[in-house]
Amino acid sequence: MSLPSTPGAAGLERLQRRDTRLDNYVDRYAARTHGMTASAIRALFSVANRPEVVSLAGGMPNIADLPLDVVGESLHTLVTQSGRQAMQYGSGQGEPVIREAICEVMRLEGIAAHPDDVTVTVGSQQGLDLVTRIFCDPGDVVLCEAPSYVGALGVFRAYQCEVAHVAMDEQGLDPQALREAVAALRSAGRTVKFLYTIPNFHNPAGVSQSLERRTEILRIAEEADLLVVEDNPYGLLGFEGEPTPAMRSMDADRVVYLGSFSKTFAPGFRIGWVLAPHAVREKLVLAQESATLCPPVFSQFAVAAYLANHDWRGQIKVFREMYRERRDAMLAGLADHMPTGTSWTVPAGGFFVWATLPPGLDSHAMLARAVTARVAYVPGTAFFADGFGSRFMRLSYCFPTPERILEGTRRLGEVLQYEASVNETFGTGVEAAPARSALGTYEAPGANQN
Ligand SMILES: Cc1ncc(COP(=O)(O)O)c(C=O)c1O
Repeated sequence: MSLPSTPGAAGLERLQRRDTRLDNYVDRYAARTHGMTASAIRALFSVANRPEVVSLAGGMPNIADLPLDVVGESLHTLVTQSGRQAMQYGSGQGEPVIREAICEVMRLEGIAAHPDDVTVTVGSQQGLDLVTRIFCDPGDVVLCEAPSYVGALGVFRAYQCEVAHVAMDEQGLDPQALREAVAALRSAGRTVKFLYTIPNFHNPAGVSQSLERRTEILRIAEEADLLVVEDNPYGLLGFEGEPTPAMRSMDADRVVYLGSFSKTFAPGFRIGWVLAPHAVREKLVLAQESATLCPPVFSQFAVAAYLANHDWRGQIKVFREMYRERRDAMLAGLADHMPTGTSWTVPAGGFFVWATLPPGLDSHAMLARAVTARVAYVPGTAFFADGFGSRFMRLSYCFPTPERILEGTRRLGEVLQYEASVNETFGTGVEAAPARSALGTYEAPGANQN
């Protein structure tokens, strides 16, 4: 048995003939659609996915090591023994069996939670959407790291929020910058709704907040009465030692926590969750009911069956080792091939390295040349809400083999060397954005545009 095929060429041609690029409804869309644009990553996918291109662009989890026979068997049992329940509508909050299992998963990061405080979502992406939906009005400000997860920026834009970026360093969000940002925004009369942060193996920056850093950020949040949204899809994919306790484990009243099975099991089931204080949870369930009636019941039972029947902790260890080998290949390749003046973060887990280019180089302008040289990455500008970031790039090591990663960094090195030598000969004609560290200095939007 294989996947159902798409309509044949003739059928497609017939459909295309009726297709038109004119949009008869162009003046009717809601204002919130104006900020909805295809992410730089999506636009890249068609070229980056060609086999001759080494893609260091996408952040797709590598699920080659999943035991498909085990998953298949448990799906078979699920359908034959509980199919009528698993294929029925379910609870808007999510099925009790998966909410209990989620609490067990969260215990690995020090979180003691009751299943009643968990809302199941369609990936943590929907968690982000629901949280923004219940908290944000147009014009509200959301504080985000600089840089931040491109999918979160898309959600905030869709709800017409304004993103205020807060500088990071090698230990994640900079507490002093956070303090200053909250004070400046409030004294300008702005409404700051929450801080959105990715404390572990940040996407895209690749850095993690130390325990002390988390404590300090939470102290500032308390002083400023700031809600914290902790997004943690990579927390269990650390390469060194035990996971750092989640921020939620330190403050149950102030932190709304987003989790996901996309990176520790498989993204196709689309199961994530939000753990929130009780009153927030009630609003989330109402929002979930209006969005989907209920999260996909079959997927919830499928993930619960996988967790119950398989050594999922052992599987996460397998994933970790596989990602560590790829991370090592990426770091070795960068050390061998990057031109002088390039720096990068050293991730202790997760999928991403964040690179800072030599002064004068522009990762956005350079992308076409890189793809011609058969290597792809995501330009730093994708991870800022305001066009900043052209001196940075995100390099993912999660998907290609170590050999391909080494080859990709070799090709990238050649492109950068060439760009740097052209700049040296002819000058850049642009002002170099400052970069204090591998994460760069984040300054007021517009101050450092190339
Ligand atoms: C930081 C972060 N948050 C949320 C998501 C969304 O993941 P999902 O919806 O698959 O759970 C991703 C996916 O890459 C991510 O990197």
